[in-house]
Amino acid sequence: MSRVALVTGGSRGIGAAIAKALQAAGYTVAANYAGNDEAAAKFTEETGIKTYKWSVADYDACVEGIAKVEAELGPIDVLVNNAGITRDAPFHKMTREQWQQVMDTNLSGVFNMTHPLWPGMRDRKFGRVINISSINGQKGQFGQANYSAAKAGDIGFTKALAQEGARAGITVNVICPGYVATEMVMAVPEKVREAIIATIPVGRLGEPEDIARCVVFLASDDAGFVTGSTITANGGQYLT
Ligand code: CAA
Repeated sequence: MSRVALVTGGSRGIGAAIAKALQAAGYTVAANYAGNDEAAAKFTEETGIKTYKWSVADYDACVEGIAKVEAELGPIDVLVNNAGITRDAPFHKMTREQWQQVMDTNLSGVFNMTHPLWPGMRDRKFGRVINISSINGQKGQFGQANYSAAKAGDIGFTKALAQEGARAGITVNVICPGYVATEMVMAVPEKVREAIIATIPVGRLGEPEDIARCVVFLASDDAGFVTGSTITANGGQYLT
């Protein structure tokens, strides 16, 4: 029987590429999404991957959503915490709402999804938790005090939890994508975006598939000795 993988924010952008790559690698995949029904329906139609709607910012909704996925597809072996939002503003203009929304989704969302799944992974002595952080959690970014703080938090969370999961056969890793050609990056003002691309040594934005391939590796049995690691996939823009 194939392993079951759940990808949050899995119907668009990097998450959609991850869901498709895991499906191609033989996993039974579920994609969670929070808002865009139309995109989710289109994604399911094109790929056959089931989509499930709830907000990762809501703990109870995560518990309920996970129970539904597991009832339909079986126990979840691989969790990809990909869902994320931006609310960019220079700090002097940043509102408490912009801060809180980003923390709730990008940091608490990772807790809300991993916490309910953790006991089952421990019982079954197998699990893969793959968190999608960001280059901006590593280096910081003007206009992203909220996002950079949350994404840096995801890295710390990964390193702590990897130590707890190790003896239970659960690996916990984090990927830090650089600037990838998705709607999120395309929403950055063109002039700012062009300036950013000029600082990427490979001379281009990343493709969602560049990140998806890293996830497929981390999810595999071959990656059992890799835990607590940070995979940097940013075209050389920031070297850690
Ligand atoms: N460093 C230094 N100064 C900067 C700067 C930078 N990187 N960016 C802007 N500034 C300066 C501007 O030059 C301007 O200065 P002056 O007033 O002296 O001219 C000042 O900051 C204010 O700039 P704006 O008028 O543009 O301010 P704004 O409120 O309209 O917008 C912003 C600011 C929203 C932060 C905008 O600059 C922006 O969108 N920046 C991009 C942020 C970014 O990279 N986000 C990543 C999104 S993609 C993502 O998050 C995915 C991922 O993981 C990589």
